[in-house]
Amino acid sequence: MPQLSQSEAAARIQALRREIEEHNRRYHQEARPTISDQDYDALLRDLKELETQFPELASEDSPTRHVGGAPLEEFAHIRHRQPMLSLDNTYEEKDVTTFFAGLGKLLPNQKIETVIEPKVDGVAISLLYENGELRYAATRGDGTTGDDVTQNVRTIRSVPVKLHGTDIPMLIEVRGEIYLPKAKFATLNEELSAAGERPFPNTRNAAAGSLKQLDPAIVAQRGLDAVFYGTGVVEGVRWQTHEQAIDALSSYGLPVHERFWHAQTLDEVLQRIHELGVVRHSFPFETDGAVIKVDSFEQRDILWFSSKAPRWAIAYKYKPEQAETRLNKIVIQVGRTGVLTPVAELEPVFVSGSTVARATLHNAEQIAEKDIREGDWVVIEKAGEVIPAVVRVRKERRTSGERVFKMPDECPACHTPVVRDPGMVAVRCPNVLCPARLKRSLEHFASREAMDIEGLGEAIIDQLVDRKLVHSIADIYKLNVDKLSWLSHTLDSDEKHHYLFDVDVHAPRILDKKTPKSIKNLLDAIEKSKFQPLWRLICGLGIEHVGKAYAIALAKYFQTLDKLKVAKAEELQGLLGGGPIVGIGANVSESIIQYFKNEENRKIIQSLGKEGVKFGVQDERIELSAATGSKYAGTTWVITGTLSEPREIIADQIRSIGGKVNQTVGKTTTFLLAGEKGGSKLEKAKRLGVRVLNEAQFRTMLGPQG
Ligand code: IVH
Repeated sequence: MPQLSQSEAAARIQALRREIEEHNRRYHQEARPTISDQDYDALLRDLKELETQFPELASEDSPTRHVGGAPLEEFAHIRHRQPMLSLDNTYEEKDVTTFFAGLGKLLPNQKIETVIEPKVDGVAISLLYENGELRYAATRGDGTTGDDVTQNVRTIRSVPVKLHGTDIPMLIEVRGEIYLPKAKFATLNEELSAAGERPFPNTRNAAAGSLKQLDPAIVAQRGLDAVFYGTGVVEGVRWQTHEQAIDALSSYGLPVHERFWHAQTLDEVLQRIHELGVVRHSFPFETDGAVIKVDSFEQRDILWFSSKAPRWAIAYKYKPEQAETRLNKIVIQVGRTGVLTPVAELEPVFVSGSTVARATLHNAEQIAEKDIREGDWVVIEKAGEVIPAVVRVRKERRTSGERVFKMPDECPACHTPVVRDPGMVAVRCPNVLCPARLKRSLEHFASREAMDIEGLGEAIIDQLVDRKLVHSIADIYKLNVDKLSWLSHTLDSDEKHHYLFDVDVHAPRILDKKTPKSIKNLLDAIEKSKFQPLWRLICGLGIEHVGKAYAIALAKYFQTLDKLKVAKAEELQGLLGGGPIVGIGANVSESIIQYFKNEENRKIIQSLGKEGVKFGVQDERIELSAATGSKYAGTTWVITGTLSEPREIIADQIRSIGGKVNQTVGKTTTFLLAGEKGGSKLEKAKRLGVRVLNEAQFRTMLGPQG
């Protein structure tokens, strides 16, 4: 770019900003971009360059502020001016009927106009604009106070930092949803898997995970988008109806739903819900339901709110989609604790927005109970759009070629005879040196939830173990250029994995210039992980039942691994007062004690220390214990029926995410975790409208520790 005078630069900057804003509008509001992404990026780059050259001309309002910025230290909290309530949810049409009848009773002899909108499956957000300028963006949090994610939301191109037009309210809280477009989800997951990181199970988690990134530059790359469907506090303008409010938001330059549906009668409402159920698949975002709202604000004021949700709206959720496909084979996966899990290999089938080729079958009992055979036609479902599960077998489609499945008597990886722990359904490989167990332990150790070693993913770990270069997690730190010399060769011949290693890990460079970049980056990432906070190390050790939540609490309480190593049961369980976690049970404390008693484990820890892994780094960012900060903190649970592990273990896992376990189902029960044969508790929960979860759904809530 030629050197410009300040006044020339000012003119050019202004022109560029206007041009870019116009392209943003065409791209997001009209969905009709008139230039290519590359050309758009070039304009943005020019503007950025000028703003760097002439810092005095930079401005908060510039479109360059939408992309990236300095990493955040932590999220501050913001109190919503008007609480962000949630909606009553239902899967049943009859509840919509009851809702509609209720409207009629509370608004007798009135014409009731309703609007029906897609329920976007993302993260609820509240933006505050003062005199048209974006002041902050906050997540819902507990409804009263949310996280300040302004920096991250500023990276979303469609969210204006300044509202357009006239008649802008002095102050307005705009409410909506941040989502990850379906198209972006697939690529993001491909990139994450290829980088050895865990993919997100669904678009909602991907959006939430992206929004919680501390580095806005990463958020900018994710491609989040937003849609707005309501307001909180509004000062200086008043609308009569939802439709008017949405039109106004749209005129300010905020993205809103392209269309919504109107209905005046119950029949119309139900018809619209069905219509939306079909067209929703063509939306760029994932939807999990339809929201039915009363259009008139005057009527809304009469209907008002119940304690936790408005009486003027309800969310109807579409049932998880099912699909039929052939189960080709049942394979065995060996987990890091040695548990053998049967997994169904399916003929790939498209369901709820993605292609499914595998589904977990949990254990042999479930296979026997559902009489699942290799070669069967099965019905699969993505419960909560997360883990695909085999619901039932289409026995009427059986020929005679289906094969009955038998759990193997020996581990498929190391051929050690399997054992069955008393009282447990699970079958496990008892060999602590089993290569399959080792691979899973290494994957867990390096994962995002634990030591977060970028680039150390499944493909490389498989090779490291198969080539006998690594025999324990501590051996990762003994890797060097020599041992990894095969790596660049392998990667050069494998394009898909190759590009991953071009990432810059911002770590100290420890190798000379001739080292191939792939090896260099991996060794840098490993080196960097030695300084990870203690909770990551505790989590990475893979102590049974100790996931992220417990690891954070333990690290905070013990401060160093050496103290945790010698902790006694009384202290772990908090019996000596002020223990690490209220509610840590005997099983978890026993498992921690056993872990550190084991000779192999002691050697590994010694070795980790010798290699320079730090045992006492604290994470300043984590203030709360994960259990009290968990979104399930304060929830009340009841367990019923047969599950894959003993009740006490499950109860401990519930406590680890901040829940409380009760014996009887009542009005205050948040979740009923129901295994096979739920009995009277299940009946009662259904009667009281308590949310019932199956084990797969529960495992998803638990996250990677389960
Ligand atoms: S209206 C007073 N409209 O669903 C609550 N919510 O289950 C007003 N959501 O927290 C919410 N799409 O995050 C509304 N078109 C839509 C929505 C929507 C998604 C989310 C929102 C809310 C949750 C309630």
